[in-house]
Amino acid sequence: MLNRRGILIGGAAVLAAGGAGAVLSTKLATERYAEFARRLRKPLTQSAGPSELIRYATLAPNGHNTQPWLFRQSARGIAILPDVSRRTPVVDPDDHHLYVSLGCAIENLAVAARATGQSGDVVIDGEEGASFSFSALPGTVDPATAELFQAIPLRQSTRSLYDGRAVASDHLRRLSQSAVMDGVDVALVTERSTIDRVRDLVIAGNDVQMDDPAFMRELKDWLRFSPSTAMTRGDGLYAPTSGNPALPEWLGSIAFDLAFKSASEADKYARHMDSSAGVAVFSAVDEGPAGWIAVGRACQRLCLMATALGLKTAFVNQPVEVASLRGEMASLAGFPGRRPDLVLRFGQAPPMVYSPRRPVDAVVTTS
Ligand SMILES: Cc1cc2nc3c(=O)[nH]c(=O)nc-3n(C[C@H](O)[C@H](O)[C@H](O)COP(=O)(O)O)c2cc1C
Repeated sequence: MLNRRGILIGGAAVLAAGGAGAVLSTKLATERYAEFARRLRKPLTQSAGPSELIRYATLAPNGHNTQPWLFRQSARGIAILPDVSRRTPVVDPDDHHLYVSLGCAIENLAVAARATGQSGDVVIDGEEGASFSFSALPGTVDPATAELFQAIPLRQSTRSLYDGRAVASDHLRRLSQSAVMDGVDVALVTERSTIDRVRDLVIAGNDVQMDDPAFMRELKDWLRFSPSTAMTRGDGLYAPTSGNPALPEWLGSIAFDLAFKSASEADKYARHMDSSAGVAVFSAVDEGPAGWIAVGRACQRLCLMATALGLKTAFVNQPVEVASLRGEMASLAGFPGRRPDLVLRFGQAPPMVYSPRRPVDAVVTTS
């Protein structure tokens, strides 16, 4: 007959076995996840049709990885429309990030189309999104487009410590040229004292956000702790892409509540900023969906060029998300009186785990 002690020992053994089982199954799922992420980023062939171009478009960065887009194909081209069911109203109340994300994706699509011999132009439709209209004539692929194209499946937001080395001046020049876009200004900040001031704004913004229960709730909704959930949902912020371990969903949720504190986040951001070679700040001349889509396009070109040059990038957008910090951020970047749209750090680091995406079928609409 089991006594009380026996029940306790038995209970602990069941828990330990359960824990070990959960860790083992997470390990297996992590290996499956690596294959899933590789398949999403399979290189495009030269005969890529519309759904393959859309797959490449979806590899673009986007706020909280909500993938707030729908794609509509027609004989004339491919349109990208906002998917308002994937808004993040707390961090992005005016859909600024949503439209920037559409801009990043349409630029990927345009680069991929041109690199596979399909010429055409991007048309920005403002609130309706944007589209890529095919030209009747086949295009020739210029070397600059080919370089950006190859970088599409390799680019990632690398949220880790960089190696602290400066970026060579000819690479800085290429970064700056890559982002030239009508209606968008870009500042590349490499002076350490200015980067330090941006760092202080990032930390100040992070403190404000982490103090806001609504911000934390919305963020947690988009976190994916386990590889299985990341693969099933195909969206959201998968823990290892921020340098955290993959965990069973229930355990990750508890660990997040216990360990995600503003002091440790501030320390992490300070080290990340100090290890970065520089910061790129983007600002649209005209505020509103059309300007924000243009910012996304410019930003995506810079991210792809950085990737082609062997650099890594990561967004540190707290100073543009917290409205009270925008004025100082704009002045630091040399755009006094304007709204700064994005802050991106860059430098050198090894790659991290790649983030999930939903399948093309889930983002195509016929309506
Ligand atoms: C408009 C916009 C805002 C973003 N803001 C942040 C941010 O403040 N912090 C962050 O770590 N990542 C930010 N990201 C990066 C996304 O989380 C990232 O693109 C997404 O998780 C997909 O991952 P990937 O870029 O590695 O493909 C932002 C991306 C976009 C386009």
